[in-house]
Amino acid sequence: MSIIERSLEKIASRRAAANQGLARPSKRNNAAEIAAARQYRRTTMNPAALEYNKILVDKSDPYAVAAYNIVRTRLLQRLAANKWSSVAVTGSQPGEGKSLTAINLAIALARDENTWVYLVDMDLKRPSVATQLGLEVEQDLSDYLRGTAQIEDVIYDPGIPRLAVLPNRCAAEHPSELLGSARMDALVEHLRSERPKRVIIYDMPPLMSSDDVLTFAPRVDGVLMVVSEGTTDRKLLQAARHVLSEMNLIGVVLNRSSSRGETGYGYY
Ligand SMILES: Nc1ncnc2c1ncn2[C@@H]1O[C@H](COP(=O)(O)OP(=O)(O)OP(=O)(O)O)[C@@H](O)[C@H]1O
Ligand SMILES: [Mg+2]
Repeated sequence: MSIIERSLEKIASRRAAANQGLARPSKRNNAAEIAAARQYRRTTMNPAALEYNKILVDKSDPYAVAAYNIVRTRLLQRLAANKWSSVAVTGSQPGEGKSLTAINLAIALARDENTWVYLVDMDLKRPSVATQLGLEVEQDLSDYLRGTAQIEDVIYDPGIPRLAVLPNRCAAEHPSELLGSARMDALVEHLRSERPKRVIIYDMPPLMSSDDVLTFAPRVDGVLMVVSEGTTDRKLLQAARHVLSEMNLIGVVLNRSSSRGETGYGYY
């Protein structure tokens, strides 16, 4: 039995439990919740890293900001219509721009005054959120998953209002086991129940390189696929469709589009 088939079986058995969690009604944000919002561990981002990695912390690239704002708005509409709050950002192969999309989408979401966001680096094998943001990190998500840190030790406030980041400094050993662990379940539940209500963006590895996304998928409300124009392999994408049929596909983001705007960022 292949990795994918084994994982599909795992998904089927976990789906019922996950659905119970999703069925819970979410409360609307209110002033008291916002006043009581948690303070997270303060950290800094490196401006040179932000610029080098094309992270859109300001509006200096208006075409790109506009493209991400459209993805944000469509995503928020779908989340609200279904009372969903968590999204796994993935793609079919390495290097399609999944992490860049997850980061810029999280920042675009946090720009909305009513939206509080967690950005979680769930690519445990090749984490890149901390590097792309140039984040100063002491303890990280892997420390929490291994049991050497508490949840609140690994949630960082990078200085962007309404955005919190759960980063990883370096590759973890045995990522599949960590992704399926009881501590991971506790983390997902913690983030899901946080107030004010958050949108949770999980930056994931590629769908077809391991069973990591399949293992984690039952814990999220939906999956956002990143496709890179000109580089995403058609056969891999077709194979990914089979795997995706077991998940809730919320949308597809076209990255490096040559036909939309002048920046190479596109969207669906
Ligand atoms: N639209 C874009 N325009 C310019 N550069 C881009 C764009 N999208 C991604 N890149 C660059 O491509 C590289 C890979 O991007 P990123 O790390 O987001 O991909 P990934 O899909 O997360 O890769 P991995 O599979 O290794 O996690 C980075 O250097 C990033 O800055
Ligand atoms: Mg990545």
